[in-house]
Amino acid sequence: MISKKLQDAINKQINAEMWSANLYLSMSYFFAKEGFEGFANWMKRQYEEEMEHACKLADYLVVREGTALIDKLDVVPTGWGNPLEVFEHTFEHEKRVSQMINALVEVAVEEKDKATEDFLSWFVNEQVEEEATVRSLIKKLKIVGTTGGLYTLDSELKQRK
Ligand code: FEO
Repeated sequence: MISKKLQDAINKQINAEMWSANLYLSMSYFFAKEGFEGFANWMKRQYEEEMEHACKLADYLVVREGTALIDKLDVVPTGWGNPLEVFEHTFEHEKRVSQMINALVEVAVEEKDKATEDFLSWFVNEQVEEEATVRSLIKKLKIVGTTGGLYTLDSELKQRK
């Protein structure tokens, strides 16, 4: 059975993942309203992924005979200036989530809960991937911001066989 301290820490992370989901859903509808269908689609997939992260943690608590808490969520932002600003916000947020996951691993280590430590390694790796993906999108958006035509041409030339 999982310790109360670790259960509370995982429940806090469930809340954070669900908040992240809402943040990205808000960003998705911001993009949809602005006419950016591709970005809106990307953010909606991101929303779904965050919900999966929350459920993965909750499922784990149940397997370990713990109690998953689905708590109320704080409100999320609703407005941004431009796509680059949205993705920079996303990057800063994901860096914070990475720190939270690392802190959660620390609790598992303190509690000498090797199973949870192993379980959380999936989240550690997922954060590396999420940060890298968003960092790459920010680089692309910066290219678009200064040389939009070049970026389109660059994308087209990539198709050459
Ligand atoms: Fe579930 Fe994007 O962290």
